[in-house]
Amino acid sequence: MNASATLPQPKSSFPVRRMDFSFAETPKYWFFDDPFMSHFMNNLSSLFPYGEKFFVDSVRAVRDQVSEPQLKKDISAFIGQEAMHSKEHAAYNDYANEHNIDLERLELRIKVLLEWTTRLSTKKQRLAATCALEHFTATMAEQLLKREDLTTQMNDPKLYQLWMWHAIEENEHKAVCYDVYQKVYGGYFTRTLVMLLTTVMFLGVIGWFQIHLLRKDGQLFNWRSWGFGLKKLFGPRNGFFTKLIGPYLDYYRPGFHPKDHDTEKLENRWRERLGFSN
Ligand SMILES: [Fe+2]
Ligand SMILES: [Fe+2]
Repeated sequence: MNASATLPQPKSSFPVRRMDFSFAETPKYWFFDDPFMSHFMNNLSSLFPYGEKFFVDSVRAVRDQVSEPQLKKDISAFIGQEAMHSKEHAAYNDYANEHNIDLERLELRIKVLLEWTTRLSTKKQRLAATCALEHFTATMAEQLLKREDLTTQMNDPKLYQLWMWHAIEENEHKAVCYDVYQKVYGGYFTRTLVMLLTTVMFLGVIGWFQIHLLRKDGQLFNWRSWGFGLKKLFGPRNGFFTKLIGPYLDYYRPGFHPKDHDTEKLENRWRERLGFSN
């Protein structure tokens, strides 16, 4: 008899939820009724279809070097969740064309950027970059789950569900890539140096795409919207990015682990709100 057939197989620590959103009713300015803030979220959405494929490829490239059954299960669930995020954001990005918001062109820029990154880097560096970007997505998602002042301003129910579902799952799987990195490579220097480089690239791309989206929409000189958006993002007390500085810097602490930011209760509350059974 095959011995492995008798061993109990672990379940993944989190589920893969199948989603299929329709954005047919989505208005153009769906966040705060404001061009700058709506385009800021559109901007993030343009990064996901190819960005999350890059995450999946980076983890897949080393998965055969992981032997722990639980972590192997969680890698499969991580791949399942990210593939589903990629698919649903691509669906929204296609829809945005209806409003002449060209997210597909931005997606293709990300595709080319990541193809070059893949050509010029090692597996270890790509996995470190994925850990860095997963820290961004998890901390930004945590912020979204905590901030009623932001979530109540999403005036389209489908996009609200898309973002909050994605935010829950980014926190559910936030440690997977990091744990794989620690098992396969470990160490401090590459992890933090790659975070530094990834930060520069990430902020550069976001800034570039934001200007592009506002210009294409004829809103580049809408100073009222700029003022409103910059205050929401960088305001000294409650700015979205301002609030991320502490959690971001935590990544540079030796011994850091993503689960040090305990979001279990927050995830539970949101699973209930969105009606998820698990
Ligand atoms: Fe994701
Ligand atoms: Fe993720």
